[in-house]
Order: sequence, then structure tokens, then C-alpha cells
Amino acid sequence: MLRLDKYIADTGTVSRKDVKAAAKKGLITVNGIPAKDVSQKIDENSAKVYYCGQLVNWRKYVYVMLNKPAGYISSTEESDKTVMRLLPEEYSKMECFPCGRLDIDTVGLLIITNDGPLAHKLLSPRHHAEKTYYYHCSPAIGNAEAEKLCEGVDIGGYVTKTSKVELLSGEEGYITLTEGKFHQIKRMFEAVGSSITYLKRVEFGTVKLDESLSEGEWRELTENELEALKKAAGEEE
Ligand code: URA
Repeated sequence: MLRLDKYIADTGTVSRKDVKAAAKKGLITVNGIPAKDVSQKIDENSAKVYYCGQLVNWRKYVYVMLNKPAGYISSTEESDKTVMRLLPEEYSKMECFPCGRLDIDTVGLLIITNDGPLAHKLLSPRHHAEKTYYYHCSPAIGNAEAEKLCEGVDIGGYVTKTSKVELLSGEEGYITLTEGKFHQIKRMFEAVGSSITYLKRVEFGTVKLDESLSEGEWRELTENELEALKKAAGEEE
């Protein structure tokens, strides 16, 4: 059960103060009945709440797929250059945050959610959620370097876990990790004498980047994608 004013304010569309004023004017109905008392408790799973004639779309958690462009940081700090600025303000009001970090110059799939427990599981090394990146590197690497990357390399006091590498050519391929150390892929390529020149995350725990999204565009996850993500995090429905 949730207080009516919190229920409406949680959707990010209006403040609690404005909810109170609207209720006084009779602009809010709960299950068809005008609501005067915004402190009343309602069943968030079944109540049909209308605010100014519009059905209030309350959800406990939201899940967004963003095709992150270069030049944005994966954080919720107050700055014009955070990925949250690419989403409508409602998502910040719903306390969404990026699930993990991509470097400022890395592009591609970023999940943004307010589901803290799920994000925690996806990022926990215990659950081994796989993240796949498409890369360009220079100079080219060969099978010997790819094998080293797969087996694990020392990136400065830490030996990476096994990974998968698919070479498309010496300068281009896919790499799949189950962990996410700071600048991990860049440091792994440096450890084998190469350098990453382009990095794009294309998959996160079996959810693939929707290639119809241009950089900077986003959409909410479909039910199937969310189910896949929960599976990758070891959560059963
Ligand atoms: N590895 C990196 O080096 N950078 C990223 O953004 C992600 C993985």
C-alpha cells in the first residue's frame, strides 16, 4: 500500500505539493471516486488512479536501454554531460541510474534503471553476467594475442578472468567479459601491445543493443528483454 500523493509523485510527472492542490480541485480519482485526501493509502498493484483526466502510469521499477554516444559520462552527478541528460527528466525523478559504467569515449548499450537489487546482481562478479563489446584496435593483433586475452592478462596488479575474443580481422572484433574493472578492455589490449581505438558495447547479459536506436536514443526494455536480464542476474520470475 502507498500514500496517494507519493504514488503520483513517484511517477515524476508532478510534485507532492501539486498533487494536494489538484485533489482539492477534484482533479484526482481513485477507482472512479474523486479523492480529496492525498494521504489515503492505495493498493499500488490494482488501483486505477487518474490525475487531470490521465491514467497515472505508476511502476515500481523502470528499465531503459540507451545507445550511449561518446562524450557522456555514466553517472547521475549534476552535469550536462551525464547520460541521464539524454532521458526525460521523469527518469531522474524516479531515481534511475546507469547500471555500470562505460568510459566517456565508449558507445553503445547502457541499461538505466531504478531497480537497485537487479543492478547489484548484474554487476556482481558472482553472477558472471556477460558483456560483449565490438572493438577496433591498433596495431593489429593476431591469434597469439587473442589467445592471451582469452586466458587472462595482467593489467597492472590484476590478472583478468578468462574472456572470449572473436577476431573479425587483426584490427576489429568482439570481446566478451564477465567482469568490469576500470578501463578493463583498454588495459587488456595494452597488455598485449595494442591499443583500443573504438569501443561499443553490443550486449549486456543476453540483452542486445537495438541497432535501430541511433546514438543518444533510448527506449524501455521489452518484457522479453527484462526477463532475459533477470535470468542473467540469477533472478527467477
Ligand atoms: N572496458 C573499457 O576499457 N572501457 C569501457 O568503457 C568498458 C570496458
